[in-house]
Amino acid sequence: MNNRRSFFRKSAAIGLGAFGVNSLFNELHAADFEEAEKLWDAGSGSNEDYWSVIQDAYSASKSEIIILNNGGVSPSPLVVQEALEKYNKQAAQGPSYYMWRVMDKGREPLRQRLAKLAGCDAEEIAINRNATEALNTIIFGLPLQKGDEIIGTIQDYPNMIQAYKQRQMRDGVVYKQLSFDFPIENDEQIVKAFADAVTPRTKIIHVTHIINWVGQIMPVKKICQMAHAKGIEVVVDGAHTFGLLDYAIPDLECDYYGTSLHKFLSAPVGSGMMWIKKDKIEKIWPLLCNSVPQGKDIRKFETLGTRSFCIEQAIGEAINFQEGIGTKRKQERIHFLKKYWAEQALQIPGVRIHTSLKPEYSCAIAGVSIDGMKPEELDSKLFKDYKIHTVGINWENIHAVRVTPHVYTKISDLDRLVGALETIAKKA
Ligand SMILES: Cc1ncc(COP(=O)(O)O)c(C=O)c1O
Repeated sequence: MNNRRSFFRKSAAIGLGAFGVNSLFNELHAADFEEAEKLWDAGSGSNEDYWSVIQDAYSASKSEIIILNNGGVSPSPLVVQEALEKYNKQAAQGPSYYMWRVMDKGREPLRQRLAKLAGCDAEEIAINRNATEALNTIIFGLPLQKGDEIIGTIQDYPNMIQAYKQRQMRDGVVYKQLSFDFPIENDEQIVKAFADAVTPRTKIIHVTHIINWVGQIMPVKKICQMAHAKGIEVVVDGAHTFGLLDYAIPDLECDYYGTSLHKFLSAPVGSGMMWIKKDKIEKIWPLLCNSVPQGKDIRKFETLGTRSFCIEQAIGEAINFQEGIGTKRKQERIHFLKKYWAEQALQIPGVRIHTSLKPEYSCAIAGVSIDGMKPEELDSKLFKDYKIHTVGINWENIHAVRVTPHVYTKISDLDRLVGALETIAKKA
């Protein structure tokens, strides 16, 4: 794209918070996004001129290392970095005033904006620090009795597995884990496995919306419908889907939901969100004390003590950035990037892909392996010889290198990955 205005223009004055007309996003990106929009060829996931504008908005796109572990934690675009710096500098002038009297006023507008992005009521959103905090609060807050059963899987995230195991040890609940052989391109098979494990004592089903190890999209809504028909509630781990897949949380039909905002939303590290269906808020105990623990106000989950309101407020610019692109477009682009490298990798003798390439069953994440090579060996070779950062997964029945592009990933980065896989596979 020629004559593009630079994203890295320094902003002059910094205005009234992330959602005002003087937001940093408006200072830094609005004009460029407007120009980029003209280049957008509707329906195309591969409009490189458009995407180069987005890539330029991330300093990570200029990193010497090619970052393909965005499933772990993602970099923020420059506008979010600058917002965080701005709030940190302001707080440094006197956190008890600037955090507790000034930035504190930004929490309700932020809740509203998060709710709009999540397609839900703001009174169902609590802002916290990550998916672990959100989901552990729910898991430990559920009023379960000895003998009550919970169904999860061995492919869920360890922090949630451990939370249920602790409840098992302390409260005598029964935690059962299914196991799946991913990829599975059959929703009914997954729903049936959960349904078959249900007993009259089952109270909770825990579902990871996208399985972090290998990228499988789970049929959350169908599982919820099956569960609700049997009077069972569903907890959803949305760590890998919020800001990536285009959905409204209530449309999942779950009862409880937690996510991190520092993954696909690209908000600052240490930002997260919890959603609880309105009529269930009252019965969930907060993990950290609150004066009205059995109250109906979702804010009872926000008595987290002294923490950085700067991080929280900078989430606002991540929302502006997300809305500048649009979640649907982002989902299609990231799926396109995954397919771009994975389809080529599939043609290389000795290379295996462990993830469905269909958009119903996966988006950003795909697992790859080379015959005769351990995931950790491939991961370390990619980094040592090609400066490509991925992650080697050895979890239960999943053994692969996890590759996760993000919206700032360049086609040339993926070409380097495919070339590296070709060379490595030839020598293996
Ligand atoms: C599926 C899933 N759930 C939860 C988490 C926890 O996220 P956080 O470390 O931000 O709490 C992760 C982290 O990668 C994850 O992959």
